[in-house]
Formats: sequence, structure tokens, C-alpha cells
Amino acid sequence: MLDTNATAIIELPVVEQPVEGVTAEPVRRTTGRALYVETYGCQMNLNDTEIVQGIMARQGYRLADSIEDADVVLLNTCAIRENAERKIHERLKHLRYWRKRKPDMVVGVLGCMAERLRKSLLGEQGLVDIVVGPDEYRRLPELVERAFVGEQGIAVKLSRVETYDDITPVRTRGISAWISIMRGCDKFCTFCVVPFTRGRERSRPLDSIVREAEQLWEQGFREATLLGQNVNSYRDPNGRGDFADLLAAVARAVPQMRIRYTTSHPYDMSDKLIETMAEYPNICPYIHLPVQSGSDRILQLMNRHYTVAQYLDRIAKIRATIPRCALSTDIIVGFCTETEDDHRQTLELMHTVRYDGAYMFKYSPRENTKAWKMGDDVPDEVKSRRLEEIIALQNRISWEINQTEIGKTFEVLVEGPSKRDPSQWQGRTDTNKVVIFPHIGTEASYVVGDTIRVRIESATSATLHGSVVA
Ligand code: 5AD
Ligand code: SF4
Repeated sequence: MLDTNATAIIELPVVEQPVEGVTAEPVRRTTGRALYVETYGCQMNLNDTEIVQGIMARQGYRLADSIEDADVVLLNTCAIRENAERKIHERLKHLRYWRKRKPDMVVGVLGCMAERLRKSLLGEQGLVDIVVGPDEYRRLPELVERAFVGEQGIAVKLSRVETYDDITPVRTRGISAWISIMRGCDKFCTFCVVPFTRGRERSRPLDSIVREAEQLWEQGFREATLLGQNVNSYRDPNGRGDFADLLAAVARAVPQMRIRYTTSHPYDMSDKLIETMAEYPNICPYIHLPVQSGSDRILQLMNRHYTVAQYLDRIAKIRATIPRCALSTDIIVGFCTETEDDHRQTLELMHTVRYDGAYMFKYSPRENTKAWKMGDDVPDEVKSRRLEEIIALQNRISWEINQTEIGKTFEVLVEGPSKRDPSQWQGRTDTNKVVIFPHIGTEASYVVGDTIRVRIESATSATLHGSVVA
């Protein structure tokens, strides 16, 4: 999953309808109050922020474009690795300055850190007014209101049913939308805190997801990513099918829209799903398939439920069925007891698969997980060296693969000006590669959301560069 840092900046509409599940009373509007949400962590968290904004918009909140303008500041936190938590602590210390300058401002912590850190955040340190876990966002308006009159609030219960199915997320980013299709995870990989912070797996109804995709298309979105911690174990609660059925239904409902999904678990990557991807031209030929390690012994300790041979069988099936398919992965180095030989096997697997990209991490022990009790015996300098080795290898492979794209012409979905140089614009291939192209003269006859053809002229390990062709 991508680590992202985002802040939304728009005016929210004032919405009239009541908030289901929060209160039976009519909506009490806190007019004029402004909300500022900072998001840390994965796409699930970014989408949760959009849900939080949806819930607060119903109460009449608008979005502030800076902390200075905000009455309520919420940090949507990530607990997946130690450095993610460290970042939040630093940010909260910085927010002390604002709390002194603006004593009426309400500060809250949301998301995966909520349960674990509620006592320290609210208690001794007094850094925040409210702490709200991922399944309790419906209670936010009430807790914020109480915080304005000086009451601290905690809501960190996990739910077996909450999917926020009826909440319309307030999306603020371009032409790409996330659709949350399920929440939680039942896989219990031994290193991972998600099953504890986000609770049990539960899926949204298929019909409602399809309707959301149709609405997004009508609103001008051109790409939708179906989101879940482990999308392959999606099951429609009304018995209308599995993830492959959902993907097919969405692809049929919005045939012009690019459909992506993340994240997959190799154990549940069925032939049916791979064949469904091949069947619909609007399902993007790109799969993020976290492998975590190339050693069977480590995979077993991680409780991943597959061997390297089984993983490679899934890759072979993907390559045979969708020859253009791009692949990315997640890899952890330095998991408990990882030897040089285990590490060598990870490098070997990377040579074999030749991923287009990878997210690579040093193992970081998380409380509550099974691996926490196994110890953390690989020294940090060894983890760092192993991480450097896999990053160097991946950069080389990405660079080599991207060189083979030179001379090819791709359909590119236009996203807008490149961050580095606004005279250059950027977009993405359906295989999820970033393409940079000049936005000048006659070439500039396209707008954000158009699909254009770009011929690739050069490439780095991360980006393709080219010119627009007719
Ligand atoms: N330490 C390091 N990396 C982790 N991930 C999950 N938990 C940990 C941890 N404790 C990585 C996995 C996962 C990705 C989202 O984050 O690779 O796929
Ligand atoms: Fe964590 Fe494993 Fe679930 Fe992914 S599949 S969220 S790594 S427990």
C-alpha cells in the first residue's frame, strides 16, 4: 500500500438530511465551523478521511485550508510501522503551539493509533481532546460538540458490521476516486497490527458499490480503485458473489471508467479473478500482490498461507492470462530470525518475478501481534543493509523494464500539471506508470480527465517521458 500524506482543501456544501446512526434528533448545524484533517498511512486511511469529511459535512462543517483557519483539527493516524507512529507524535507536539494560540480549537486523533494510545494521548500528555477509532466515526460530530464545552471523548470500539455504506465520502482529489468495498482483515499475518486496529473483515453490498461507481462516473471521475485490506476475500453480504463478480459488475456498469483494486492477498488470488480481469478492457492490467519474503520458512513464520512455489504459480497464471499485466509488491526485510540465506531467497524471487515496482520496509515489531512475542533479533544495521540491497535491485529492474517501454505508445489518463514543472503534465498508463509529457502549443488541446496517446521517448526507474501523438 502507498504511504501518503494528504490534506483536503475545499468548501463543503451544507447538507440538509439527518445523519443516520448518530442521533434520532434533527441535525444540529454547527454553521461556520471549519475542519482540517491530516491523513497518514495507506489509501484506506485516505478514504476514511473522505468518509469523516462526509459525516462532518452533514453537520454543516466546511473544510479549512490550514490549521490556522480550523476550529477542529483531526489527525487520521497509521500504526502499521513504528516510524508512522513517531511522525504522529511529532505532529502532536507541534500542535501544542496551536493549542496555546487557539485555546478553543478541538484536536482529535483518529484511525489506527486510537485504541493503543488513547490513554497516553488523553491522559498524562493531554495532547488531544478526542480519540476516535476507525469504526466510530459516526460519533465524531457528537464528540466534537462535547469537546467544545471542555469534555474529553473516547470512542474506540471495533464493529463487526460498520461499513459506512450510506455515507457519501467528500472527495477532493482530481479524477480518481477510491471506493471502500470492505473493512478489516481476518488474515492475521504475524507481523501486522491491522486485524487489531481495524477489526474483523466485513463487506459492503455489491449493489451499493456498483451504484457508487455509476455516480462517480456521472460526477466526472474517470478512474475508481476498489479498496480493502484484502479485497480478494470480498463476499457480498446478500449472496451475490465474490470479488471477481463484484469487479465484473462494476466494469460492466461503467464501461468507460478505469477500474483498479488494492490490496490482494496471494492466497486468495483465484483463477476466476485473473480471468475476469482479462475479460474486461476497462479493468486495469495492474496487480499489487504483496509477497513479503522469498523464503518459505519466513513466509510460514509470517502466517502468509503460501509458499514461494504457490506464489510463483499465481504469477505464472497472471502472465499467461494477462500478458501486459504490471506487477508490484510489498517486501519486509529483517523479520524475526531472517538469515542471510532467507534474504538471498528474497533477492532471487525478485529476479524471477521482475516486479515493475515494490514497496519495501524494515520489519518493525508491533505490540499485540504474534511476531511481537517472537522477538526482533535482526540488528538494525543488518536490516538497513538488506533494505538497501533490495531497493537497489528493484530500482535496476524497474529501470530495465521501463527502458523496454521506449518507442511504445500508451493510452494515458491525464491527471494535470506535473509537481516538478507545471509546463509538463502528468498522467498514468493503465499499468499504473506515471507518464510526463509537455503541455505546450497544439499539444495542449486536452484537459484533466481526457485519455490521450503518448509515445514514450525516455524513461527512468520511476517515470516515463514522452510526447502526445494524434
Ligand atoms: N513492519 C514492517 N512492515 C510492515 N507491513 C505491515 N506490518 C509491518 C511491520 N510490522 C508492511 C507489509 C504490508 C504493508 C502495507 O506494510 O509489507 O503489506
Ligand atoms: Fe495485515 Fe496480512 Fe491483513 Fe494485509 S493481509 S492487512 S498484511 S494481516
